[in-house]
Formats: sequence, C-alpha cells, structure tokens
Amino acid sequence: MPGSGLILGIESSCDETAAAIVERGARTISSVVASQIATHARYGGVVPELASREHLRAIVPVVRAALAEAHIALADLDAIAVTSGPGLAGALLVGITYAKALAFANRLPLIAVNHLEGHIHAVLLNEREAEGAPEHWVPPVSSLRPGIEAAPHSDPALALVVSGGHTHLYLARPIDDTWSYTLVGRTVDDAAGEAFDKVAKLLGLGYPGGPWIDALAKFGNPRAVPFAFAQIKSKVHLAGQPPRTKAAKTAPIAHLDPHFLFSFSGIKTAVLRYVELNQMRAESRARVAHVLERLRPPQTREEALALCPQPTLDLISSFQHAVVGDLKRKTFAAAESLGARRVLVTGGVAANRELRERFSQEAAARGVRILFPTLALSTDNAAMIAAAAWPRLLKQQFAPPDLSADPALALR
Ligand code: KG4
Ligand code: ZN
Repeated sequence: MPGSGLILGIESSCDETAAAIVERGARTISSVVASQIATHARYGGVVPELASREHLRAIVPVVRAALAEAHIALADLDAIAVTSGPGLAGALLVGITYAKALAFANRLPLIAVNHLEGHIHAVLLNEREAEGAPEHWVPPVSSLRPGIEAAPHSDPALALVVSGGHTHLYLARPIDDTWSYTLVGRTVDDAAGEAFDKVAKLLGLGYPGGPWIDALAKFGNPRAVPFAFAQIKSKVHLAGQPPRTKAAKTAPIAHLDPHFLFSFSGIKTAVLRYVELNQMRAESRARVAHVLERLRPPQTREEALALCPQPTLDLISSFQHAVVGDLKRKTFAAAESLGARRVLVTGGVAANRELRERFSQEAAARGVRILFPTLALSTDNAAMIAAAAWPRLLKQQFAPPDLSADPALALR
C-alpha cells in the first residue's frame, strides 16, 4: 500500500515539458510546464526534432522545479509516472528515459500513463480537488440546474478528448478503484485542434492557432459563412485499410457508429477555398510579421480590426461556430445514446470559450452534468499524468523495465 501517496508525474509527449507532484490523485502540490511555443512558432507547427532537443534541455530543471516548489525530496515519493504514448516518439523517449533513470536510482516504482487517459484525469483531478477542499470549492463551469441531481461517481461518463492531436469520444467507466475506457467515436482525419492551427496558419495568425481564433471569433459574425458538416455515412471503405492518420493509429475505426465520427480536413479546405475566392490571403499574409511579433491575441475590437479586416473576422467566427457545433452535436448524441449523465470535455480545445459556453447550455437543457478542466489543466501538463497514475499505484500496476515510447498507444 502507498505511504505518502505522492506521485511525481512527467509529461513530454509533444511540445510541453512538464513535471508535477500530486497527492493521492486528488491534490496538486506543484505543477511546472515549460512551453516550447516560442521555438515552434516561427515554423507554424511543432518540429519533432526541435521538440526532442528542447525536452532534453528542459527536463532536469523542470523536474527539479516541481520538487522544489512542493518542498518534497525524491525520497518522499511513492512512485514516478510518465507519459508513454501517444505522441512524438523522440519527445516521449526523453521523458521516459529520464523517468526510468530517476526511478531506478531512487528505488521507486515507475508507472506508465496514456496521455489521453491523462487528459480525462485532468477533469477528475479538478473534481476531487473541489470535493477535498470545500472551503476553496469552485463550482464546475456549468453548475447543475436546480432540481437536477448530480450523477453518482460510479456512473459512466462520456469523455471528449479534443486537442491538437486527438478528437476522441470515450465512454469512461469507474470499476473498483480504476477506470475502463471504450472508444465510441473519433476523427477519421484531422483533429479539431489541428484544424484550428491550420486555419490560423493560412490566415497568417500565430501558433498555436486555437487561442488566436478563440480571441478573434467574438468580433465576427458566426453566421456569415455557412460551413456545413456532412454526415459520415459509411466507414466500409476504411475497414481493413492500414491507418493513414495519427488518430487512426491510436484507435481503429471498425465497429464505431458513424454518427459519432468526426472529420475536420474538409472545413480546413473549405476555409482555404473561401480565402482564395475572396482574395483574402494576400491581405492577411501581409500581417504575419506583425502578428508574430505580438505573440498576444487581441483584446479589443480595434486591435482585432488592426490585425484582420471584418470579412476575415466573420470567416474566423463562422469557422469556430461550425467546429464547436459539430463537436457539440455528436458528443451529446453519443451521451444520450449511451445513457451517460456526465460529459467531460478535455484537451487543448476544451479551453475554447465558445465551446465551454455552448456545451454548458446544451448540458443544462438536457439535464446532464458537464465538466471541464481549469484552463491550466486543459492543455498539456504533468499533474494529469500523476493523477491518472494514482489508481495504478493502488493496483500495483507498474511499468516493465523495458518500457519504451509508443507513439500510437491506444486507450482501453
Ligand atoms: O492538449 P494540447 O495542449 O496538446 C495536444 O495534446 O495536442 O492541445 C493543443 C491544441 C492546439 O491545437 C491548440 O490550437 C488548441 O489545443 N487550443 C485551442 C485553444 N487553446 C488551445 N483551440 C481552440 N481554442 C482555444 N482557446
Ligand atoms: Zn494533450
């Protein structure tokens, strides 16, 4: 049985080097994130080789900072947890190799955590923190309507993991002290965050694109450009074919209900066509240098208009409105069809304001509970990794000594 219940989590699957100390999966003692945004911004996306190099630079100081902020020595820990996939192979290996060495040298068990399970536990960690510290209790973003009872913790939850690499729907079931996951839906091509990033890039905005689109969208008309998502009718043509996308590798598509499948590559192309047809590209491109210098999304209409003319703001707003609408429709349809009374939305795109607002309204109208992580826990961090490791520590599920990176690790 665990003694202190303290787990050091290490995360390096993409472009954030992170370390955190979490107690019993329920209390964050420290959480340090070193972002590589400045390194990758000039390329408009994550460059895998640069990511590995930056992780190598950051990993030791980040872990030291997490221990120092928590006033905790390695000897106080019960275990070390590390993300073993999915993600970039070279980036994952930096975290795994360091975690292994640290665990071996300090005779601590090592726990391997799936990054997607980590995102789900970001929400659960917030929930447990709220319950464990009633004096600091902050209601979830959407509180329940009067008269609606909270779903018991033993009830299944529908989880939408929506980030730069993933758009996956899982039915998450608490079983004993641990969780089991069933894939319910996913994107057949690009992730939603990838669409935000690509649209922002083609408009000449900063990287990552999500926060820029989020900030600019409120200055445009969401109904100016009627983007539509066609229902994915059949997946027969994909059955038995080798996976072609990152998402396909982490989750095979067979047996999924097509109503819960997403596709975001079409809307990205539609935005590109719209930009070309309306000759908006050159104009927005001319602003690139200016935008990249700022690295801060606009706060006022004047600032937004200085960056983008009104038609571009309308396009951005319409794009975001369409993506959020599609995510919302399919997520709540899946929750209803599976009888889930709790919906968790997590991953970088869960930071989006319009998404939080519209999901909260829908949940209230349907009488289901909606939960989002705090903004800091929405994007990649290590507290979620340490929290996800807690049930595994209770069950003594440790990583094998030959643990390696699995860039396409599936969640079960
Ligand atoms: O979870 P995350 O940090 O890393 C991955 O696992 O991918 O998510 C990063 C993604 C990026 O695509 C970024 O553009 C998107 O999340 N993102 C947002 C917002 N903040 C981050 N998308 C929409 N609105 C936001 N506010
Ligand atoms: Zn992530």
